[in-house]
Amino acid sequence: MDSQCVGETDGLTFFLAKSEDYDDVMAISQDIYSGNDYLPHRYHSWMTEPGRVVIIARRGRKLVALESGLVVDGGETVIIEGLRVCPKERGCSIAGVIQRFVDGYIKKVYPNVKTKRLTRRDDPGPEKLRKFTLLARRAALSLQGDSEGFNRFVSDLKEKLVVSEETNGSCPLVPVKNLDALKAFLFDSDLPSRLQLPGGAIIQDCQPLKLMESNLHILARRNLTWFVDGSGKKPLFMSFHTPPYPIPYNGGSLCFIIDLFGTDTSLAKKALTTHLNSVKSEIQGLVWVHIFMHQTLWKDLKQFCESHDMEVKLSHKSWEQLFLEKELL
Ligand SMILES: CC(C)(COP(=O)(O)OP(=O)(O)OC[C@H]1O[C@@H](n2cnc3c(N)ncnc32)[C@H](O)[C@@H]1OP(=O)(O)O)[C@@H](O)C(=O)NCCC(=O)NCCS
Repeated sequence: MDSQCVGETDGLTFFLAKSEDYDDVMAISQDIYSGNDYLPHRYHSWMTEPGRVVIIARRGRKLVALESGLVVDGGETVIIEGLRVCPKERGCSIAGVIQRFVDGYIKKVYPNVKTKRLTRRDDPGPEKLRKFTLLARRAALSLQGDSEGFNRFVSDLKEKLVVSEETNGSCPLVPVKNLDALKAFLFDSDLPSRLQLPGGAIIQDCQPLKLMESNLHILARRNLTWFVDGSGKKPLFMSFHTPPYPIPYNGGSLCFIIDLFGTDTSLAKKALTTHLNSVKSEIQGLVWVHIFMHQTLWKDLKQFCESHDMEVKLSHKSWEQLFLEKELL
């Protein structure tokens, strides 16, 4: 099938990406996110995902950039993801060119889209952020180890939990079993303030979603495992994990993402341990675990994860996920 050209500007021709472009896209994606790039794994599913647009830019035949948008929030918002420019052409404003093109294309194809949202793993400073509204910052903790170290690490965390629960009492965390239970939990009007949700949204991996029924289809596609605080009618905590997926790191590793919402430290420790424990049989080879959370939890969770044998390495540097929004004119 021929590529569908969707426009031209600044010496670049823009196309809707196809499965056949995979190798060209991978060729510009070396070492992105220090080997933690999700795109090699997600590219093909992006080709068929409802509401998703993936645009590539070529100069002549050479692929020089890619950006993708996913229309969410009942058609009002586009989430921007996957931005990348080929290494030789970085620093020449190509990211700006493709972003402007994709903004215009989305507006043309989805005229109801009013805002674009994105998350970034780096803080480019106030000057660059001026163009956006900064809705939230989430803290991130990263762990890295192999399957054996990971198993011992999880056992260690379970022991620490038992000790802490003997002192402080146990806090119940329950799995969310079905869609009705999830709806009852998510669509409680004071949930965003009670859990201090980032920008009032939930962020799954790097995708911010408003608490809207239409977004449940998107969440359902992600095959998430949810746990919530089961202590009463007004739960204080919610968490989910995305199934571990392959990443290029060290010639082939796994990435495991846990998203925590709420500020209760005991529940956060329990949720973290529960998520890690529930995937330990799936872990083979090296794994990177990235845990996103409210900033107030970071110090306690880091301390909780510190162990003497260091089989699982902990990133000592705190890093953040920035949640940004911009009006799409
Ligand atoms: C980040 C990357 C896409 C920037 O591309 P670039 O063409 O070298 O960007 P430049 O530094 O020349 O900046 C030009 C424009 O891109 C924007 N930009 C740069 N980095 C960006 C980022 N991470 N997210 C969004 N916009 C970015 C700048 O704000 C600027 O916009 P303007 O022209 O409207 O003012 C490129 O370095 C890359 O491919 N890195 C590896 C992949 C990656 O880290 N992607 C980030 C995803 S958040």
